[in-house]
Amino acid sequence: MQIIATVLATAAALASLTSAAPVVASAPRSYNIPTDDGFPSPSAQQLRTIADLADGTLSNAPAPAKLAPSSLTAFQLIAFNELFEVAFFSSLVHNITTNVPGFQLPSDAKRDELLDILETVLAQEKLHALNAINVLKKFNAFAPTPCQYRFPSSTVYEAIALAEKFTALVLGTLQDASQLFAKNGDFGPVRSVASSIGQEGEQEGFYRILLAKKPSEKPFLTTSVAAFAYSALQGFVVPGSCAFSLSSIDLPVFPALSVVSGSAGAAVEPRDQLLSFTADLTGVEAAKKFVGLTNGQGLWVTYFSGQLLPISVPVVNVRWAGAVVSFDAAFPFAANVMQGLSVAALTTAGSFAAPGDVVGATLAAPGLIQVDDRTKAWDAI
Ligand SMILES: *[C@@H]1O[C@H](CO)[C@@H](O)[C@H](O)[C@H]1NC(C)=O
Repeated sequence: MQIIATVLATAAALASLTSAAPVVASAPRSYNIPTDDGFPSPSAQQLRTIADLADGTLSNAPAPAKLAPSSLTAFQLIAFNELFEVAFFSSLVHNITTNVPGFQLPSDAKRDELLDILETVLAQEKLHALNAINVLKKFNAFAPTPCQYRFPSSTVYEAIALAEKFTALVLGTLQDASQLFAKNGDFGPVRSVASSIGQEGEQEGFYRILLAKKPSEKPFLTTSVAAFAYSALQGFVVPGSCAFSLSSIDLPVFPALSVVSGSAGAAVEPRDQLLSFTADLTGVEAAKKFVGLTNGQGLWVTYFSGQLLPISVPVVNVRWAGAVVSFDAAFPFAANVMQGLSVAALTTAGSFAAPGDVVGATLAAPGLIQVDDRTKAWDAI
């Protein structure tokens, strides 16, 4: 347990260093989704093969009769995210299959089990992506194509920890999509989106077991918003590698809010404490009036946790290096039982009636915080 925690801590520290450090001399590794099965434009026969691997087919229900523009934006984000997930699981399956150092499993049985499950997940993510792309095509809306990707994980443990983290964020983001569809009167896609939320939740429980965490994270999973997911995904996309402009999806991209404490947010202790954050606010118009001011006035960290309304706390101990700000903020664990995922944003307001209201007051986001609630490991890697 201690060893796993140490490995994770080191990895997380490295990952946070990499994201903060300027690009180093060696060419960054980039990953393309293999196209041997025709994805993302499979023939009918290739689609059938993917469905066999996925243990099920795409829906054969007609596409929704109407979708509001912002509902189409939600599908564009879903497609953009699913394409990333396809790349991620494809790379992970490849690494385990080819025994890449760091991706060897303790036994052949464990390796077979993991490959069997992850190959199924990979095919399922392909169908999730195709479902979203098909909806967009039906409405002649812009449909994202694969970009080149990069992953901070270099061991199977780190990869599963990353899958657990981004799946938790996706589970929050799909709540936002459902809410939006309801608001727009777009009932058409609700059944299928609800179906995929459960599906991602099943995956999440499995990853958590592998990490020796309880499979069911909270009574009500932490919510998030579309703009935060789109921003977080940029960390996995090689800059400039998409065949389209990022503004083709009508969502803001915020600078990352890096969590410094608790192994870069991956293993925060379950208690009240001050957490340290940093963000590079270069080019953020709304941040200009704060640059250099150290009293922290007008700045908050706002957390999403479970289905609680946004929780805001003032920032303290503000330091600036140019437009890079570092600060601390309370993590009000006990009062809010903040087990599992919390999503943090640096905001210019400290009171919000709903999660969606936070986006308009955000300078940097998301910061992902996971409380380390380990259980007795019976199937951990
Ligand atoms: C697969 O291995 C490469 C080489 O170590 C690594 O860069 C990449 O992040 C790994 N992929 C995943 C999904 O962890």
